[in-house]
Amino acid sequence: MRFEGKKVLITGATSGIGRATSIAFAKEGADVYVVGRNQNRGNKVVADIKELGRNGMFLQCDVSSPEEVEKIYEMMSNEGIIIDVLVNNAGVFITQSLDDMVFDDWSTTFSTNVNSVMLMTKAFINDLKKSRGCIINNASISGLDIFTSGTKNYMYGASKSAVVKFSKLCALNYAPDVRVNVVCPGIVDTELFTNRDFSRFDGVIPMGYISKPEQIAKLIMFLASEDADYITGAVIPVDGGMSLK
Ligand SMILES: NC(=O)c1ccc[n+]([C@@H]2O[C@H](COP(=O)([O-])OP(=O)(O)OC[C@H]3O[C@@H](n4cnc5c(N)ncnc54)[C@H](OP(=O)(O)O)[C@@H]3O)[C@@H](O)[C@H]2O)c1
Repeated sequence: MRFEGKKVLITGATSGIGRATSIAFAKEGADVYVVGRNQNRGNKVVADIKELGRNGMFLQCDVSSPEEVEKIYEMMSNEGIIIDVLVNNAGVFITQSLDDMVFDDWSTTFSTNVNSVMLMTKAFINDLKKSRGCIINNASISGLDIFTSGTKNYMYGASKSAVVKFSKLCALNYAPDVRVNVVCPGIVDTELFTNRDFSRFDGVIPMGYISKPEQIAKLIMFLASEDADYITGAVIPVDGGMSLK
């Protein structure tokens, strides 16, 4: 029960890694604020959180929209809710060659994967300073300098690199009050991939299999916990060794 009495807000929590992380935090005592656009799925996650005896609330929000982010901050603020942990996890994955690149897709990728992280951080940073809380941003091994993941990974890779750099600057500027760290998953079995044939990754992951969302949640929770109280500005792959190749 590492998070008894803590309040955790997770974006992109209606499915995949965000959903698994929401449930995992609730299992360890946290109240969880589930952010996403899909109300049905968000309500289901909240129902699972409540079944565990914790408080949960779905906050419908397009995190790429400055107005919608401001609205959820104001709603929480009016309720007197001050969060301890912010997990910026919402994201989209689109791959295109430069020749085929569509500006709207580039724009969607950056507004969802990058602008959202800035908007959420800016909205909640003063509360996190008050709670001496922490931020965990979900980037990807695609955002690491050491890893060039496929020839068509321009927009996703560039957006996740931006998340890494933004996070490091936040870690520097908000220490010692707020710790800011980054998780970089490899391949995780979620709906992020429209192509469900994961056999294309056979042989590329030293650990021999793609991960479950719960394995990413474990790292996020470690970074949010007291055990990580001296860790800030860290960028940690959780990829079964994929980025080593
Ligand atoms: N799966 C992987 O292999 C992998 C690897 C590396 C990094 N990641 C990162 O992990 C994060 C979570 O992805 P996932 O794999 O769990 O995929 P997922 O199951 O597709 O989850 C993506 C989540 O983001 C939310 N979302 C997307 N656009 C949004 C918006 N504009 N506003 C609010 N929420 C939005 C979706 O919720 P709604 O539809 O309800 O809005 C959904 O809950 C992403 O940042 C992704 O880049 C994943």
